[in-house]
Amino acid sequence: MLAVSGLNAHYGRAHILADVAFEMGQGEVMVLLGRNGAGKSTTMKAIMGLVPPTSGEVTFRGQKLAGREPHHIARAGIGYVPEERRIFSELTVLENLEVGRRPVPEGMRAWTPERLFELFPSLGAMRKRPGGRMSGGEQQMLTIARTLMGNPRLVLLDEPSEGLAPVIVERMAAAILALKAEGLSILLSEQNLHFAQLVSDRATIIEKGRIRWGGTIPELVAADEVRAQYLSV
Ligand SMILES: Nc1ncnc2c1ncn2[C@@H]1O[C@H](COP(=O)(O)OP(=O)(O)OP(=O)(O)O)[C@@H](O)[C@H]1O
Ligand SMILES: [Mg+2]
Repeated sequence: MLAVSGLNAHYGRAHILADVAFEMGQGEVMVLLGRNGAGKSTTMKAIMGLVPPTSGEVTFRGQKLAGREPHHIARAGIGYVPEERRIFSELTVLENLEVGRRPVPEGMRAWTPERLFELFPSLGAMRKRPGGRMSGGEQQMLTIARTLMGNPRLVLLDEPSEGLAPVIVERMAAAILALKAEGLSILLSEQNLHFAQLVSDRATIIEKGRIRWGGTIPELVAADEVRAQYLSV
C-alpha cells in the first residue's frame, strides 16, 4: 500500500532524514517509534509533501507521490493528523466535521458524523459545542474525526496519545483498533511504547533520521537491547 524508499529531507542545510525506507501493507497499523527529535514528524511531513523530500520516493497504491503538492497527496487518499491539534475553536463539533468532508472514493463507505460518533462517543455527546470549549483529548479526537471525513485509505497520526490522560489514552487506542477493523491503514508515530503496543502490528524505529530497526510488536517486546538503545530515555 505504502512504500517509502531512500527518502532524504533537509531543513535548510540540516540533513534531517537519511535514506528512510519502510513498507506498509493494506489494513496494517504500523508505528514509527523514536525519541524526541528522531525525525518522526519530519517523515510524516515528507510523505505528505509538507516538507519536500530532497531525494527518494513515496509510492502509494502504485502512484509515485514524492515531489507532489500536499493537496494532491491528500486527494490520492492519505489523511494526516499533525502533532499540534488544529480545530476551529469558533465552530461546533459538527461544523468542524463538515469542514473536513471530501468526496468518497469508489468502493469505500463514506464517513459521516453519525458513524464517527459511534467511534468517538464523547464527540457525539457534544456535537453542538464550540471546539474551543473542549478538553485537549476531545480536540485530539475531533482532529482525527475531521481527517476521517476526507475518506482517506491511509491515515498518518502524529503522536495521538501525547498529552492525554490515561483514561483518554485507552479510548484513543480503542478508536484506532476500531479503525483498523474497518480496514483502514494507519501509520502512527509514538514515543509511548505502551500505547504503540496496544494498537500496532509492526514497529519501525527511527533515530537521528535513520531507520534502525523494523519488526513485529512481539519481536520488539523480546528485543531488550533494541529498546534500551533506541527508545528508553
Ligand atoms: N522547522 C524546522 N526547522 C529546522 N529544524 C527542524 C524543524 N523541525 C524539526 N527540526 C529538527 O529536525 C529533527 C527532527 O525533528 P522531528 O520533529 O521530525 O522529530 P520527532 O521525532 O517528531 O520529535 P518529537 O518526538 O519531539 O515530536 C530535530 O533535530 C529537529 O530539531
Ligand atoms: Mg514529532
